[in-house]
Amino acid sequence: MDEPEVVVLSDPASLAEEAALRFAETAVGAVAAHGRFTVALAGGSTPKALYRRLAARPFRDQVDWSRTLVFFGDERCVSPDDRDSNYGVAREALLDRVPLSTENVFPMWCGPDRSLDEAAAEYSRVLAEHFGLAEDGARPEFDLILLGIGEDGHTASLFPGMPAVEVQDRLVVGSIVPAGVSPAVPRLTLTLPVLNNASRILFLVEGKRKAEAVRQVIEGGAAGGLPAARVQPQNGTLTWLLDASAAGGLA
Ligand code: 6PG
Repeated sequence: MDEPEVVVLSDPASLAEEAALRFAETAVGAVAAHGRFTVALAGGSTPKALYRRLAARPFRDQVDWSRTLVFFGDERCVSPDDRDSNYGVAREALLDRVPLSTENVFPMWCGPDRSLDEAAAEYSRVLAEHFGLAEDGARPEFDLILLGIGEDGHTASLFPGMPAVEVQDRLVVGSIVPAGVSPAVPRLTLTLPVLNNASRILFLVEGKRKAEAVRQVIEGGAAGGLPAARVQPQNGTLTWLLDASAAGGLA
């Protein structure tokens, strides 16, 4: 993988604007290249501003939503109406505001009606179907995966020291969060092999409290061992969009 691109924006609004520009550019390029745009959305609070920006002009008109398929990088096992639902956040800020068919939105479902393993296997089947994965071991190649980072260096729901980080033979796994992580609910997450098979990875990070994790990952690389540092797309591009606060620890 080439060196990651690191772009520092002055404030969160500029970060959302730059992210929307790159989202739209990737979408246009993907549709031109192969007739559709596949994206995995990030969870947490940082992407909300991006999602709202994408639902407004000019970006809402630049993206061909009829050829866009929306997946998720991870999900908390809560109701879609729960404030902690990554799908719920994206639905409110973006998915219900653009001409996107619900048939092209693929939430991760993990609730009391099924085990985490069953839920993970179900989402793996969704990926296999929509990416035409013929044989075991094949991995989806997303046109774009949006990611965030936690203060502990986690990304998606791959938390430091937890088993999900090391899974290489599955596309989606259940993830039990370490003590102290909020919300303290089980998760589903794409695995590192899927993240690292993406055509483009875009990290969105804002705020001073992320600065040390960002420094460790960008300056320390995978040797630092943090899950976010192990996102190193084999054939894709990796870009960090940071606001000035999150970039405060970089040399
Ligand atoms: C999640 C996210 C997670 C998130 C980081 C940053 O479901 O929690 O996928 O990886 O991106 O925790 O979250 P904030 O943007 O809320 O700081």
